[in-house]
Amino acid sequence: MNIGIIGLGYVGVTTMLSFAQQGFRVFGVDINSRIINKLSQDELPFYEKDLQPLLEKYSKNVNFYSDISQISENLDIVFICVGTPKGRGKSLNLSQINNSLRQIKKKYSKNSKPIHISLRSTIPVGTMSKIKNYFSYQKDSFILSYNPEFLREGNALNDIKNPEVIVVGHENDKVKKIYKTLYKKNIKKIHFVPFRESELIKSTNNAWHALKVCFANELSQICSSNNIDHKKLIKMFLADKVLNISSAYLKPGFPYGGSCLEKDSDYLSSMSKKSSMSLPIISNINKSNQLHLSFIRDEIIKIKPKCVTFTSLTFKEDTDDVRNSMKIKLAEDLFSNKINVKLYDKVLSNMIQRDEKKLESLISSSDIFKYIFTDFNKAIMKSDIALVFSDHKKLTTKILKINPKIMVKCY
Ligand SMILES: NC(=O)c1ccc[n+]([C@@H]2O[C@H](COP(=O)([O-])OP(=O)(O)OC[C@H]3O[C@@H](n4cnc5c(N)ncnc54)[C@H](O)[C@@H]3O)[C@@H](O)[C@H]2O)c1
Repeated sequence: MNIGIIGLGYVGVTTMLSFAQQGFRVFGVDINSRIINKLSQDELPFYEKDLQPLLEKYSKNVNFYSDISQISENLDIVFICVGTPKGRGKSLNLSQINNSLRQIKKKYSKNSKPIHISLRSTIPVGTMSKIKNYFSYQKDSFILSYNPEFLREGNALNDIKNPEVIVVGHENDKVKKIYKTLYKKNIKKIHFVPFRESELIKSTNNAWHALKVCFANELSQICSSNNIDHKKLIKMFLADKVLNISSAYLKPGFPYGGSCLEKDSDYLSSMSKKSSMSLPIISNINKSNQLHLSFIRDEIIKIKPKCVTFTSLTFKEDTDDVRNSMKIKLAEDLFSNKINVKLYDKVLSNMIQRDEKKLESLISSSDIFKYIFTDFNKAIMKSDIALVFSDHKKLTTKILKINPKIMVKCY
């Protein structure tokens, strides 16, 4: 297979050498002549662990050029690995991408067989669809995909050779065959997804890594002002692989409720006031939770429903505890915005019916419990929206059977 690599920085060179090592023929291009001169003499233009010996060993499989116009007409795929530095404000500067696309279009638009262009640089959501428009007049000559790179400098080769996840954004199933050949050792790790998902995952990953660093550093400030060894504390924290280092709680949807998460986040945040520490992440956790509830409320109000049904009320599943339940807060909020609500909760309804939970005591905790239903069907009928908080598919089917016109929103 013949592979083109445009842009020979950290990502381009590591990608190039990992393909060269697998025996593919690689054509590397960089507009920086210093980089081309160095690489042509088997010298890395930068330092990165383990790459220099690989370059020396596999340079026979690689050719270097300073201009796209010089490379082979007969490429199976060309990867764009140019830089996307910060532009104005928080946006990215995509001029290197645009220039490479212009050069590729100029060179390959008259080719007899279509050329596959794979973007590898970090790009904002929506970029692939703009690139698709750019090639729309020659859509049969260019096949597009996005294969973001997740490597870490300092560990680049290992990351590229042993990926946990390979993401391929595409709109054309023809791209699958080539990726399965390129990543034949890791086929099971390839996620073929729509462009927008593939564009968002890279910045999602990096923002998460950044959040982890800053959370750990804020924690170290708390430790240091309390004479606690932060290394010991983080070791204990990391030892919990069920709740702390796991997918637990990492479920986008509804804000947290109950007493513990809010109370303890508030407690940690209050420490910053006492000892003039700066803890912007920890201090804003509860604020973020409340803002998410407002976001959901506004989303529902925009739909202009007359009546919204809640299919659960407790602060989480498998409990009858409604203290600090965000579902109740949302119901109150919608009601004060002149939207009728119908409240249903399987556990509470059963308890009310068996007279184990007194309705009066619930109502004394919030007036909104006047609108509680013990009959699920009645709660669903004549309502415009049903809010579902778990067991999505089964419950959604049940709701739609009772009221086919209802909109089901799952969290
Ligand atoms: N460095 C990392 O650890 C890393 C990891 C994952 C993703 N990324 C992303 O990958 C992309 C590349 O990162 P990098 O660190 O390798 O960038 P880099 O700046 O080190 O390298 C980019 C190279 O592209 C060349 N170039 C620019 N325009 C060109 C053109 N028209 N034709 C040929 N060459 C051209 C430049 O001369 C430069 O050598 C960025 O979008 C970055 O955000 C980087």
